Amino acid sequence: MALPVPAQYVLDFEQMGFGMFVHWGLYSQLGRGEWVYKVENMDMAEYKKLADTFTAEDFDADELVLTAKNAGCRYICFTSRHHEGFSLYDTRGLNDFDVMHTPCGRDLVGEFVDACHRHGISPFLYHTTRDWYNPDFVDNFDRYLDYLYKSVEILCTHYGKIGGFWFDGNSTYRDADWKETRLYSMIRKYQPEAILLNNMGINSKGVVSHPDLDVIPYERGNPRPMNREGMPKYLAAEMCDTINDHWSIGINDFNYKSPARLINNICRCRKAGANYLLNIGPTAEGGVQPYQRELMALIGRWMEIFGEAVYSGRPYGAVSYGAASHLGVHYDSNDERCFILKGEGKLYIFCVNTGIAGDENVTMRSYYCGSYAFDNVPDRVKSVRWMDSGEELSFVQQDDTLVLRVTPQHYGSSFCVRVAEAEI
Ligand code: GLC
Repeated sequence: MALPVPAQYVLDFEQMGFGMFVHWGLYSQLGRGEWVYKVENMDMAEYKKLADTFTAEDFDADELVLTAKNAGCRYICFTSRHHEGFSLYDTRGLNDFDVMHTPCGRDLVGEFVDACHRHGISPFLYHTTRDWYNPDFVDNFDRYLDYLYKSVEILCTHYGKIGGFWFDGNSTYRDADWKETRLYSMIRKYQPEAILLNNMGINSKGVVSHPDLDVIPYERGNPRPMNREGMPKYLAAEMCDTINDHWSIGINDFNYKSPARLINNICRCRKAGANYLLNIGPTAEGGVQPYQRELMALIGRWMEIFGEAVYSGRPYGAVSYGAASHLGVHYDSNDERCFILKGEGKLYIFCVNTGIAGDENVTMRSYYCGSYAFDNVPDRVKSVRWMDSGEELSFVQQDDTLVLRVTPQHYGSSFCVRVAEAEI
């Protein structure tokens, strides 16, 4: 069966590989997550007062964008409006529940998009379709859909080029007619190359609700390599993920993922050809939380060395059966095994948890170095070297099997995922 031909803008999206999600709104002032209104059964008249104290005095769009850029992200998805119904942009008279009617009084979507354009990062906008503020969402759905349409039209026409729209919330009325065709055609008219995604919720990973959409979303999921044969259209995939347990700031959330876990997540998404969209939650005033900035910076140091493999590597059928398993090396799951991606004239060999050279007293001998066998490698390998040090690795290739001699890392480094590039 035929494979669908990808549109260039969808391929470009895939090659961005890694993005930063930003959840920020009035809820950030409470520091208990963006669902606080719903979860705590709050009264909207009370909740609305949060607009009176929204100053955004620490919001610096350049700082936000550079946090992402330094991490190796190539796009940022920013909440123009979340389920609370409050808009971080000037809704130009649609209603007064927007940033212009707060002490802040600045169009923050405008500042965000401009900073992205300045720093060569693609701006995406998260836009809710579920709305707890606008009574029409419950009482007059058609009128609500007009409001949603006009809200998005403003975003399409006042801020220059938008990389993509990330919708979320249709799962409230799963069977309703959301008039998606009307909405998406309008976006296409103004922003022909915007990526369109509609997240159907945590329980609908992999669900694509409309033929105009470009991406298969996997909210906090486990993307699997896709078989695109017979698909009417080429779709990209993306996994969005939290950095701890909340999307927007959770003051008492200590459950951070480790840098190693996050790097692994980037890699396992790329293994399946999916992008990884990692979220941060700015403070009440809009500053990047210092610990989150540092985590992003650490990832960035890894990306500086191995990023090429993340951006250019495409799924490749090769698998390693973990030559190390007989030594009792523990893999948390199949996702932590070694694998190969293919780039221009190259293979990228992702090796997980390889050993450190040095004195046993300090290296713990906890991980394995030695021969790793990969099946399904039809390309003829000419040479292999580590991307970090350039050290050449010896290998044998017979038929479609590649056996690579994995050398230890230098004492002083522990890459968690270390990538070798093979010339083919
Ligand atoms: C869920 C949540 C929402 C969050 C989104 C991010 O759909 O409802 O709060 O923005 O996930 O993927």
